[in-house]
Amino acid sequence: MSENTFYLTTPIYYVNDVPHLGHAYTTVAADFVARFRRLQGRRVHFLTGTDEHGQKVARSAEAQGLSPREWTDQIVPRWTEVWDALDISNDDFIRTTEARHEKPVQSFVSHLHERGQIYLGSYEGLYCIGCEAFKVPEELVDGKCPLHGIEPEVVSEDNYFFRLSEYAGRLIELYETNPRFVMPEPRRNEVLGKVKAGLDDLSISRVSFDWGIPIPWDPKHVIYVWVDALQNYVTAAGYDSDEAAFRRIWPADIHFVGKDILWFHAVIWPALLMALDLPLPATIYAHGFLQVGGEKMSKSKLTGISPHDLIETFSSDGYRYFFMREVSFGQDGNFSWEGMAARYNSDLANDFGNLASRVTSMSVRYLDGVVPGRPDGHELGPFERDLRAVQRRAFEDMTRAIDDLALGEALKAVWSFVRRGNAYVEEVAPWALAKQVGARRRLEVVLYELLESLRLLALMTAPITPRAADELWSRVGASGSVHDCVYERALAWGGLAPGSQVRAGPPLFPRIET
Ligand code: ME8
Ligand code: MG
Repeated sequence: MSENTFYLTTPIYYVNDVPHLGHAYTTVAADFVARFRRLQGRRVHFLTGTDEHGQKVARSAEAQGLSPREWTDQIVPRWTEVWDALDISNDDFIRTTEARHEKPVQSFVSHLHERGQIYLGSYEGLYCIGCEAFKVPEELVDGKCPLHGIEPEVVSEDNYFFRLSEYAGRLIELYETNPRFVMPEPRRNEVLGKVKAGLDDLSISRVSFDWGIPIPWDPKHVIYVWVDALQNYVTAAGYDSDEAAFRRIWPADIHFVGKDILWFHAVIWPALLMALDLPLPATIYAHGFLQVGGEKMSKSKLTGISPHDLIETFSSDGYRYFFMREVSFGQDGNFSWEGMAARYNSDLANDFGNLASRVTSMSVRYLDGVVPGRPDGHELGPFERDLRAVQRRAFEDMTRAIDDLALGEALKAVWSFVRRGNAYVEEVAPWALAKQVGARRRLEVVLYELLESLRLLALMTAPITPRAADELWSRVGASGSVHDCVYERALAWGGLAPGSQVRAGPPLFPRIET
């Protein structure tokens, strides 16, 4: 059996504008999981990208006096530079304007057509360009789209339709028999309830504008942007272009999305796949929405803050940690500068950063920075045994939490070990041992335990604070990069080689003055 690739995706974002904190939230979450799975030794394929067709993007281009192609070519680097600044480790980046996407999309819809899944009909409805979707009057508030605050436009044209309504029964069965298909649980119930209320067929082409992929058998129509966009998950994996890659990568293990686009992923996407007898993704995870609150920011909008502003102050590691720890994944959350500074200072500067600097500087001071010999069993007391037990439990809890996509809980588990490490320092007081005659070996034992704790913490924090983790890894004298390790081997206690050189250094997380 060939090795099963762990395939995870973010939405492909509209390039009508530059990225904001909301986009970065999904992408960081996916990166956290991708890095964890790689450290588990899994072969990972992590995809992100940009959604470039449709009216929303075409109108942004027009407003800039550019062609859509010129506009998208110039704005895509604004996205990739944010992902670089956040240390996003995606294995691929797909743009829907690439030939490797457009051609397979055309064959996908041709196959649907050949199978009788598409018919020509006429449609009149209200279209929200913000959502790139038709709306029924019940979805509007005061005649406006509640998500975008704009009045939908009346659209009346001949469109091709996909027989979505025929899939209601199979979709209901899917949600009912597979509780992990839509996560978290409340979202699954929401989708199930809506599908049980009935499905309409889906308009999948437009004739009133041309910024899209032409319908192959009737090219005055372009393919509806959502049908084009969803297919990125298979086209980037080699659908209709690289059969071997497609077999290895598809189906996806997790599609990470925000709750705003759950319907497209949980209903339309599996129905399209079913229509071609393609395997279905294992999980669609819809997380909550971020808002900006707090005194100082209350008038600003989320879109008004660039991830760059926060990275400058808190570093990429601080950014990643804050959003994953502060917001319970799946629920809505809040960003404020005050909240972010408080969380950064307490968890990163104080708890984690101080432990790292205390232990490395004591090792330099008392042991000339040389990792001492490994403790023998008889040299371990109750404090050491507890420290090791807490580490094992923390990693087990972290693993279980990530399996359940409880990403904040995973970090709480890691920090239970950080706190245990700090408590251990107080319990064994190395500074007292250093002054005590005849306590040299005891001092070596406790500093070995502490250096080894830092090495294990570097491994456990590598998916969330990848820079600090790698720096810590080298400061305690471990060799290579923490990111090349595999947990099963590397997490065994005692991996730190006696005789290696420890380095002290500037704080891993300098305090933020508020
Ligand atoms: O919908 N809080 O693209 P999009 C949390 N192109 N996450 C947020 C957020 C917020 N306030 N705002 C946005 C599209 N997001 C389509 C997707 S996929 C085949 C096509 C995140 O640019 C969240 O992941 O509008 C949300 O689902 C996504 O950005 C929407 O990005
Ligand atoms: Mg949107």
